[in-house]
Amino acid sequence: MTTTDFDAAAAARDAADPLHGYRDLFVGADSDLVYFDGNSLGRPPRASVERLATFATESWGGRLIRGWDESWMQMPFDVGDLIGRTAIGAAAGQTVVGDSTTVLLYKLIRAAFDAQQATDPARVEIVVDDDNFPTDRYMVEGIARERGGRVRWVEVDRASGVDASALSAAVGPETAVVVLSHVAYRSGYLADAAELTRIAHDAGALILWDLCHSAGSVPVAADAWGFDLAVGCTYKYLNGGPGSPAFAYVAARHHNTLTQPIQGWMGNTDVFAMGPEYRPAEGMRRFLSGTPPITAMLAMQDTLAMIDEVGIEAVRAKSVALTEFAIEIVDDLLAPSGVTIASPRDAAFRGGHVTLSHPSMRAVTARLWEQDVIPDYRDPHGLRIGLSPLSTSFGETLRGVRAVAEALRAL
Ligand SMILES: Cc1ncc(COP(=O)(O)O)c(C=O)c1O
Repeated sequence: MTTTDFDAAAAARDAADPLHGYRDLFVGADSDLVYFDGNSLGRPPRASVERLATFATESWGGRLIRGWDESWMQMPFDVGDLIGRTAIGAAAGQTVVGDSTTVLLYKLIRAAFDAQQATDPARVEIVVDDDNFPTDRYMVEGIARERGGRVRWVEVDRASGVDASALSAAVGPETAVVVLSHVAYRSGYLADAAELTRIAHDAGALILWDLCHSAGSVPVAADAWGFDLAVGCTYKYLNGGPGSPAFAYVAARHHNTLTQPIQGWMGNTDVFAMGPEYRPAEGMRRFLSGTPPITAMLAMQDTLAMIDEVGIEAVRAKSVALTEFAIEIVDDLLAPSGVTIASPRDAAFRGGHVTLSHPSMRAVTARLWEQDVIPDYRDPHGLRIGLSPLSTSFGETLRGVRAVAEALRAL
């Protein structure tokens, strides 16, 4: 395509995009900055500015400690249910907002491992892929060491992820728990979560899904696909802000059998009894530990409201259109310079980001940041283009990919 063709294509796609207006609902989206990192830290919704200010003056400032009884004690469960309904296909009462993803991974993997061991001591293995996000891998290694288990690694291609044949070869009568990411953080590979869950269950294992890169961009059907456990970040596509707390999903059938190891007062049956012993609460409360970070779970509610309004399927349709467009431009403008796509080309196997590979991408990324074009870099040689469906436009995508081409030329 010629330069003008791409300009016309971007303009036409923005004009036809039913979600285009949502871009105006985000702080800074009207500037010239190109933001390709909404899969790492989403832009703030304008409504969140107002929500945070009102919370400080009226709720925190006005209600003071009465706020806990009036609404804050319930907020981790209410916001969890909202995430469940709008983003991950979970019926009420199975999702809670709590600690960081890292801490929730520890709590849930350990709970699942211990429960499996209690019913079948031969189940000593935790299965995880060698390209899963670092914290997931470190956590699995730590828990295996702590509980006398072992890790079974699934080796994967860095440009894709775990498929049915790889998982089938790894699971068996010794598998306690499987830990996988729905969308791979490096390649953007979108796993067939329904099929892989079935494979884990057929082997008698429990499965935990890391939904960090899918929540808010790729539809998830946690109940329908039979998930046991899931965790996910809220500061990426849910725009909760830096360090906003993660969510945990535990299928209702496991509520009475799983107990997590960080036994704090907030997970106790009667929080204010201050009694001598810890007795895990019924339902999702048992997965909490200490005082919930209320202020940090405010902003995500605005993006969840937008997803509720448009539906996650519409978000996914925009996400696919954006990544397809990005790949089209990359093939035309960057392939001649030796740039390759280190993500699945088939949209059915791709989440919301596209990774571009070239030996100079570290330097390219540094140069782009100086020019207010913000992708991120992941070894080896990967420049990640994260396209946040509610706040990214086709025009912004075109400007960003052109900037990559110019940066490569200028090196
Ligand atoms: C796939 C994945 N899992 C886990 C994490 C860890 O999340 P946290 O740092 O909030 O504990 C991240 C963070 O980016 C991630 O991308």
